[in-house]
Amino acid sequence: MVQFRAKRVLRSLLLGLVCFLLISSAVKSQDKPVLTVAVEPVFPPFEFKAPNGDFQGFDVDLIRAVGQAGGFGVTFQSIPFDGIIPALQAGTADAAVAAMTITQARSQAVAFSQPYFKAGLAIAVRDGTTGITKLDDLKGKAIAVQIGTTGAKTASAVAGAKIRTFDAAVLALQELKNGNVDAVVNDSPVTLYAIKTGNLQGIRIVGQLLTEEFYGIPLPLNSPNLQRVNEGLKTILQNGTYAQIYQKWFNAQPPQLPESAFGTAQTAQQTPTLGSVSVILNALPTLLKGALITLQLAAVSVFFGLIGGSLIGIARLSTLTPVRWAARAYIDFFRGTPLLVQIFMIYFGFPALLQAVGLNFTFNRFAAAIVALSFNSAAYIAEIVRAGIQSIEVGQSEAAQSLGLDSVQTLRHVIFPQALRRMLPPLGNEFITLLKDTSLVAVIGFEELFREGQLIVAENYRPFELYASVALVYLALTLLSSQGFSYLERVMNPVKRSSSRTQRGSL
Ligand code: ARG
Repeated sequence: MVQFRAKRVLRSLLLGLVCFLLISSAVKSQDKPVLTVAVEPVFPPFEFKAPNGDFQGFDVDLIRAVGQAGGFGVTFQSIPFDGIIPALQAGTADAAVAAMTITQARSQAVAFSQPYFKAGLAIAVRDGTTGITKLDDLKGKAIAVQIGTTGAKTASAVAGAKIRTFDAAVLALQELKNGNVDAVVNDSPVTLYAIKTGNLQGIRIVGQLLTEEFYGIPLPLNSPNLQRVNEGLKTILQNGTYAQIYQKWFNAQPPQLPESAFGTAQTAQQTPTLGSVSVILNALPTLLKGALITLQLAAVSVFFGLIGGSLIGIARLSTLTPVRWAARAYIDFFRGTPLLVQIFMIYFGFPALLQAVGLNFTFNRFAAAIVALSFNSAAYIAEIVRAGIQSIEVGQSEAAQSLGLDSVQTLRHVIFPQALRRMLPPLGNEFITLLKDTSLVAVIGFEELFREGQLIVAENYRPFELYASVALVYLALTLLSSQGFSYLERVMNPVKRSSSRTQRGSL
C-alpha cells in the first residue's frame, strides 16, 4: 500500500519536472540568443579582469553594447589568444573579442565583423636604450612578442632577430623590463596603457607606429550571427554609444573607421587550403628540431636531478635531525607546488625580486628551464633513492660492517649497487614524466617541441594536424626512453646476465 503511494508520488513528481523543463525551455527559446564570446583577459585596456573577477575593458563594453543593439546576450569564456581561432573553428565559441587584427590569413579561417578599432604596432624599449627607433634597427636584436599576434609576425620578418614568444603580451613586456630582451613589438594602445597605469616602469615607446591595423570581431566562417554583430556595431557607431565607450577607455574622440579592413577589396583573397598530409610534412622538420631541444632539456635536467636527488635522498636517511628535516622540507616544497608555478617564480619572480633590492640579475632561459626542471625532479628522485636504499635488508649492511667496511663504503659498494637496480623502474617513470613536463617551459618562450607546434598553429590555424603530430613525436620519445630503461634493467640484472652468459657458454 505504502509502496503503491510512493510510486504515484514519484510519477507525479517526474511529470511535474518534465512540464517545468518544457515550459522553461519554451520561455527561453523566445528569449534573445546568448553568444559565448571568447576573450583573453590579459590585454588591458581591451580585455582584463576587475579585482572582483568581472571582465572589463573596451572590447568587453563594446560587445555588450553590440549585443544590446543587435539583439543578443553575451557570456564570456577565457581562452589564450592563440586558442581563439581554433575555438571558433571548433564551434566552442560563437564569437571573440580579443583586439584581433583583421588579416588576410585569418579571414580564411574565421569571418570578421566590420572594423571596430584602429590601432597599430609599436616598438617598446627600456629607458636609456638608444639607437632603436624603427624596425630596421632591430636587426640581430632579441625581441619579445606574444604568440600568434601581428606583432610576432612583424618581428619575425626582421633579419637576424632573435624572437622570444610568450603566451601573453604582459609576459613579453615583463621580459623587456627584466632586461632579457632589447625590445617588444606589441599593439601600441596596450603598451601605452601599461606604461600609463604605472604597472610597467622604465619602459617607453619609440619611433612611429609600424603598421596601421583594424580590429574586428571574429566569428566562425558562415556564422548566422555575423549579420547581428554587424548590425549592432553599425547602430552603436551611429548612436554615440561607441564614442562614449571610446571616451571612457582612451579619453579621446574616436577616429573614423573604414567599412572594410582591406580597402576597397571587400573580401579577403582566397589561397588554396593544403591537405592534412602536406600540413604535417611541412611541419615535421620544425617539430623534430623542437624534439631535439626537448630531449636535451630532459637529459640535462635528469642528470642534475639525479645528483641532487641522490644527495637529498641520502640526507632524508641521515641520523642528524636538522639535515633530515631540511631534506624533507625541500621535497615537500617542490613536490607540493605546481612545476608551472615554480618555472614562473624562477624565471620572472626571482630576477624581479633581485632587481627590487638593487641587484642587476637576469636569467638565461636555458639555465632557468634547467634549474626549474632539475630542482623539481630532484624532489621526486630523492624519494626514489630513499625507498631504494631502505628496501635493502639490514642484514646486508651488518654483513658489510662485519667485513670491516665503514658506512660510506657500505653505502657505495654494497647498498647502492643493489638499490640502484630496484630504483631503475621508478627512475624510468620519472624520466618519462620529466620528458613530458619539459613542455611547460614553453611559457618562458622556450621553443621546444610543444611550442614549435603552437607556433605553427598560430600561422596556419590547423590545430588538429599539428597537435596530433606533436603528440606522436612525444609518444615516440617516451617509447624510445622506456625501451632504453628496459635495456638498462636487463644489463644491470646479475641473474639474467649470468644466465644468458651460461646459456651462451653451454652452446
Ligand atoms: N592585434 C594583435 C593581433 O591581432 C594583437 C592582439 C592580441 N590580443 C590579445 N587579446 N592578447 O595579432
